[in-house]
Amino acid sequence: MAKVRTSFICQSCGAVAPRWQGKCEACNAWNSLVEEAPSAGIGALAARNARKGRIFALEGLNGSSPPAPRLLSGMAELDRVTGGGFVPGSVLLIGGEPGIGKSTLLIQVCAAMARRGERVVYISGEEAAAQVRLRAERLGLSDAHVELAAETSVEDVVTTLSHGRTPSLVVIDSIQTMWTETADSTPGTVTQVRGAAQALIRFAKLSGACVILVGHVTKDGQIAGPRVVEHMVDAVASFEGDGSHHFRILRNAKNRFGPTDEIGVFEMTGGGLVEVANPSALFLAGRDGCAPGAAVFAGMEGTRPVLVEIQALVAPSALGTPRRAVVGWDPSRLSMLVAVLEAHGRVKLGQHDIYLNVAGGMKISEPAADLAAAAALVSSLTGAVLPHDMVFFGEVGLSGAVRPVPHANLRLKEAKKLGFARAVAPQGIKDQNSGDKAGLSPARLDDMPLRSIRHIGEAIADIAALGRSVAAPSKTRAAVS
Ligand code: TYD
Ligand code: MG
Repeated sequence: MAKVRTSFICQSCGAVAPRWQGKCEACNAWNSLVEEAPSAGIGALAARNARKGRIFALEGLNGSSPPAPRLLSGMAELDRVTGGGFVPGSVLLIGGEPGIGKSTLLIQVCAAMARRGERVVYISGEEAAAQVRLRAERLGLSDAHVELAAETSVEDVVTTLSHGRTPSLVVIDSIQTMWTETADSTPGTVTQVRGAAQALIRFAKLSGACVILVGHVTKDGQIAGPRVVEHMVDAVASFEGDGSHHFRILRNAKNRFGPTDEIGVFEMTGGGLVEVANPSALFLAGRDGCAPGAAVFAGMEGTRPVLVEIQALVAPSALGTPRRAVVGWDPSRLSMLVAVLEAHGRVKLGQHDIYLNVAGGMKISEPAADLAAAAALVSSLTGAVLPHDMVFFGEVGLSGAVRPVPHANLRLKEAKKLGFARAVAPQGIKDQNSGDKAGLSPARLDDMPLRSIRHIGEAIADIAALGRSVAAPSKTRAAVS
């Protein structure tokens, strides 16, 4: 009998190796190689059926194409993330940790769309139909006409979906449980996930149905299976949240039809996911305004201003190398900020452990958070409590200069709405934001007393003065000289 040749495929990058090895040479992932039988892969199949190509027409860039039609989901927070609704014929991949609420979100979306008369199909590869039905019943969605099936064969799914009225929305929960007959490997392996995704994407493009794929994530937060699936689909979103909080954030990582920096905020309740129209109020809830080390950052998530509290704890270290730990922020940005504070603000942090936390489990990637983080650090070091009604924003450069950031008026408007009365902001935002493109109805910057600063040293001096005027003068003087 002829020996069946197998190959070993890295489950994180899809590289092929002839024999097993502990580490993938392509992506350096450990223990990611899985033996897979050779299959008539997509390339091989195409080669066998190869025919002579036909000539197709090429078009110019200046042709007129109508804007992509949109299908509203009925959940404003989700529509915000998709950039104004699902695009027919597109494929959206939603990743997230187990138990975060992906299935709950999608059954709610399905029900909302079915109630508006769209044909909606929910294919569950993980749960039995009865389980999905039970969840829908608990959520009070039983009356919605969602067509349900527990199936894992992609060929059967595509054949069934191609039958009858084209569905507007198809949910596949999850792509890792689907398997295609064109590949011999077990479900969940790279070849299978890739093959199944390809078949479903082809179905979406041909039929015009919008397909949502649920993807599992690995320990480090990547969508399991080959990265190539992320490249194949039109949009990728991740559903995030942490166990200790009830809110969930749907964050866009890729979107061929809209912006990628929008977030949708939901709250997990006993009755399913509820949209949160005003995230700032949620993130600032339970704020303890009289402890040092907390600064409120007026941030932006896409076109929406979001206020979050940045908390810092700076304490003398007993270790040779002090600890630096960050939650919700970039650790290298913290190192940079600490270096700037030491070099240009004469703040001595070298012998201190530093912990920085973005309250509420939010993740911040905006450089505009630098000033708020710096204020929280200095406040914790000096013991000076920052005023309860003050917000901060501004980017800190390596020279210690505080640089203007976009959308100052939107940030200030949101702060004002939430009861904040003053802001520390970079100098120059007035000129820069006079023509703010995203300014929906530009607030006058003078509406709120602004402390305009040009250099980080000014902010440090302000905080040190605050500390001196209240308490612990000796500590303040010792820390900031
Ligand atoms: P689920 O949607 O099954 O998560 P995923 O598909 O991402 O794995 O969500 C399950 C979690 O959500 C579970 O821990 C219970 C919680 N939950 C609620 O708190 N309220 C609800 O109404 C529902 C349906 C679930
Ligand atoms: Mg699920």
